[in-house]
Amino acid sequence: MQPQSVVSELQEHLPSMLSMDAQELSYQLQQHQAKIFPPQARKSLRAFSPAEAASFIGIGEGYLRQVAADGHGPEPLANGRRLYTAQDMDRIRQVLDERNGAPKYVPHRRAGEKLQVVSVMNFKGGSGKTTTSAHLAQFLALKGYRVLAIDLDPQASLSALFGHQPELDVGEGETLYGAIRYDSPRPIAEIVRAT
Ligand SMILES: Nc1ncnc2c1ncn2[C@@H]1O[C@H](COP(=O)(O)OP(=O)(O)OP(=O)(O)O)[C@@H](O)[C@H]1O
Ligand SMILES: [Mg+2]
Repeated sequence: MQPQSVVSELQEHLPSMLSMDAQELSYQLQQHQAKIFPPQARKSLRAFSPAEAASFIGIGEGYLRQVAADGHGPEPLANGRRLYTAQDMDRIRQVLDERNGAPKYVPHRRAGEKLQVVSVMNFKGGSGKTTTSAHLAQFLALKGYRVLAIDLDPQASLSALFGHQPELDVGEGETLYGAIRYDSPRPIAEIVRAT
């Protein structure tokens, strides 16, 4: 074959070969992820001991016990112990604020206070940016703050840490790009996911 005809042969077939390789790679990646994270497997957060819950809410353990005994806590387990989920803690904060007659336990912005943006930055790769972001987001959420974690990394490792697998769970236009693109952007609320 003449060199010229080899080049034109390549030019003709290369795009379809690359496309087939990409499809195969994507398929293998999905199979691998389906094996590690079975379909419908949802990440969940553990429940917390009374001491941990009291500390997150910002009250003493004795007071928490009393609030739970008043019917505002989780049902006790067979051994009589109570374990508190993040939702239980949020509900108790609301009950305490209602009792108080003033917002104290549910964190909130006062007039004139701005939304706080926390960025985790380091030039070095693999230095713990994503890990720090995930722990910070989770800690603030457990303290009762409303937290929006924004993952701008195309590898989406923060999303994966919260249980959203980019290859499986995130469709076309469902990333932040879907909300900020010029052509028919989607409302940001449609992009945000609960964890
Ligand atoms: N405090 C820590 N102690 C030990 N290992 C850690 C700690 N923080 C992060 N790691 C580990 O270090 C590795 C890199 O962390 P991470 O992915 O958070 O870094 P990154 O800065 O987001 O990386 P990239 O630049 O690739 O986005 C991970 O395997 C993580 O589990
Ligand atoms: Mg990272």
